[in-house]
Amino acid sequence: MGNRYRKPTTFRCNAGSRFSKSAMVWSLVGFLLLLHLYSLVSRTNGFGREIRFRKSHSPLLRELEEVEEENIQLPPQRGRRSPRAAKRRPRRTTTLIDEFLDENSQLRHIFFPGMKTAIDPMKNLGNDSFYYHPGRVWLDTEGNPIQAHGGCMLYDKRSETYYWYGEYKDGPTYHSHKKGAARVDIIGVGCYSSKDLWKWKNEGIVLPGEETNETHDLHKSNVLERPKVIYNEKTGKYVMWMHIDDANYTKAAVGVAISNDPTGPFDYLYSKRPHRFDSRDMTIFKDDDGVAYIIYSSEDNSELHVGPLTEDYLDVTNIMRRILINQHREAPALFKYQGTYYMITSGCTGWAPNEALAHAAESVMGPWETVGNPCIGGNKMLRLATFFAQGTYVIPLPGLPGSFIFMADRWNPADLRDSRYIWLPMIVGGPADRPLEYNFGFPLWSRVSIYWHRKWRLPLGWSVQK
Ligand code: DGJ
Repeated sequence: MGNRYRKPTTFRCNAGSRFSKSAMVWSLVGFLLLLHLYSLVSRTNGFGREIRFRKSHSPLLRELEEVEEENIQLPPQRGRRSPRAAKRRPRRTTTLIDEFLDENSQLRHIFFPGMKTAIDPMKNLGNDSFYYHPGRVWLDTEGNPIQAHGGCMLYDKRSETYYWYGEYKDGPTYHSHKKGAARVDIIGVGCYSSKDLWKWKNEGIVLPGEETNETHDLHKSNVLERPKVIYNEKTGKYVMWMHIDDANYTKAAVGVAISNDPTGPFDYLYSKRPHRFDSRDMTIFKDDDGVAYIIYSSEDNSELHVGPLTEDYLDVTNIMRRILINQHREAPALFKYQGTYYMITSGCTGWAPNEALAHAAESVMGPWETVGNPCIGGNKMLRLATFFAQGTYVIPLPGLPGSFIFMADRWNPADLRDSRYIWLPMIVGGPADRPLEYNFGFPLWSRVSIYWHRKWRLPLGWSVQK
């Protein structure tokens, strides 16, 4: 009776205030848990991002996920100007990208280290054995710089060997006209083989350019870029797809070649505009079920198109979807992890580097969502310029789930044959940077992270195939 006039508690129930207290405690615990979860998944894409959360628990990967910072100092601006001139037209501040594109930059040796630092896997490198040094000259087993630009990787189960195919660009760089892009005549598609992804044997030019016949797609005056090779289990053939163009990039077609052997020779079959659309940068992706897809930049590079190939991989079918419409992306590199499809693309700035983006989808045919810039470490400029490189392919690492090698080209437009390879570890895991609007801030996709390293190696004990 004594509490007849007591004010009712917020939680009015027969169990009295004891229940109210425990309900409050549990609510608080729930709220804190939710808050914690939200803070984990809604981290921003700022550059001061929290990396700890993404760290893998696998000791094998810990080293690859270490965040390495780079401190590159811009040299003082050259040339004195009178205070008057400076007032009239203030000088645009030089960026690291300007320095990168300037052949005479004092920083040239940072972007394109000289031959003295070349990696020669045939030498006894002691502790440096098996280390990738992104950006340094990489020599083949004969001591020559590897020529496999805009490349791809094929793991051939039959020979248990990796084959690296790419543009063989060991010729002079020139401009076919004043405003034209820097180019090297078509020499052909180079092929290198390896058992360990580090030591590469030159297998020669497996699809040569054409010296004399000017009407041939592969005539040296044309363009052959981004060759991609897949194996067709049903026909037993190795099939190569590539970007075929004229010197002005107006033909905008794909070419197809075929071989009985991974080391060629490949017979060139034909070129066409896939689905009757212009096609420039492209890639081929072979899914686990054996269906292969072509993905190409189209409508003047404003969007990508994706569609399955025929069963023999020698043609496109009439199925095609437009993806990443109006996003102006190129250099697509696709891979799959735990049933989700991922793609890394670049922006469209010729040979100059720009920001990479990762995309994800439940089906190769889309829809594709952009999940953010995958680059981690280095410095802000390096991340915004894909470490001064442009993606070309993603190599899965069997035995290391969620781990891949991101293969990219650091183009050298002043001397394209001296373009470098940027191979970096790429990990899928943790929440994506850009939460989608309609999912209440909880991203559906995992984050794709490409970690900058001056030097790195595959984990000790990792052997090529498991
Ligand atoms: C960017 C493309 O990704 C390269 O393959 C090449 O076509 C250059 N553009 C040419 O400027």
